[in-house]
Amino acid sequence: MNKLIVANFKMNQTPIETDEYISKFLSLEKNFKSGIIICPPFTSMYLFTKKLKNPKIKIGAQNCYFKDCGAYTGEISPKMLKSSGVQYVILGHSERRIYFNESNTLIGEKIKAALANGLSVIFCVGENENERTKNIQNDVITNQIKKSLQNIEKIDLKNIIIAYEPVWAIGTGTAIFPSEADKMCKLIKDFINKNYNYSQTKVLYGGSVKSGNAKNLFEMPNIDGALIGGASLDAKEFVKIIDIAENI
Ligand code: 13P
Repeated sequence: MNKLIVANFKMNQTPIETDEYISKFLSLEKNFKSGIIICPPFTSMYLFTKKLKNPKIKIGAQNCYFKDCGAYTGEISPKMLKSSGVQYVILGHSERRIYFNESNTLIGEKIKAALANGLSVIFCVGENENERTKNIQNDVITNQIKKSLQNIEKIDLKNIIIAYEPVWAIGTGTAIFPSEADKMCKLIKDFINKNYNYSQTKVLYGGSVKSGNAKNLFEMPNIDGALIGGASLDAKEFVKIIDIAENI
């Protein structure tokens, strides 16, 4: 099965830097078979939607609010994203949970609004180091899913991708053991299947994915792809990871 490779640029790249990135990416681009989604900062999105012509490559946002419009200074709505040529939005990322106090309930509202506006959602879940030490990661993750997807219907699940991102592996350079990532991705799939009777959910792994560890991760049967932070900021490294996914 083709893997799904998602780049999360986080708060990196000015539009000028994005322009340079796109030129480099286009010079390396091949006839990719994988699904590729690039999530740049809001200020660089228009460059991707304008310059990337490959229909295999979709553009995603890293956040949105749950209202269509109104007096919500600083926020961006799913409706605005959709009309800007964006097709995906990352919601529930641990950095938003930690630095911006996003709760499972708020994330659930955002997911609902994004879906209602025709966006697909990359919904992030994952335990922190303390929760892993206490060995309560399974409960943490199923609770995040239960609370944020409580108002979601089975029919919506085809537009939700789940990304398992253990907080303790993000940005550290050291990913989780592939077999452990596989176990967690399977737990998520089984939970969705049991609670929604839906078996098609794609689950990505995220946390220090790079060309050096991608093969071992992508070989795992329950890992459908990767959500990549730091390594996606280097176009050459990102294309290398895509190549690895295509050769599994
Ligand atoms: P890194 O790949 O930099 O660890 O980031 C992972 C991540 O948070 C992607 O959303």
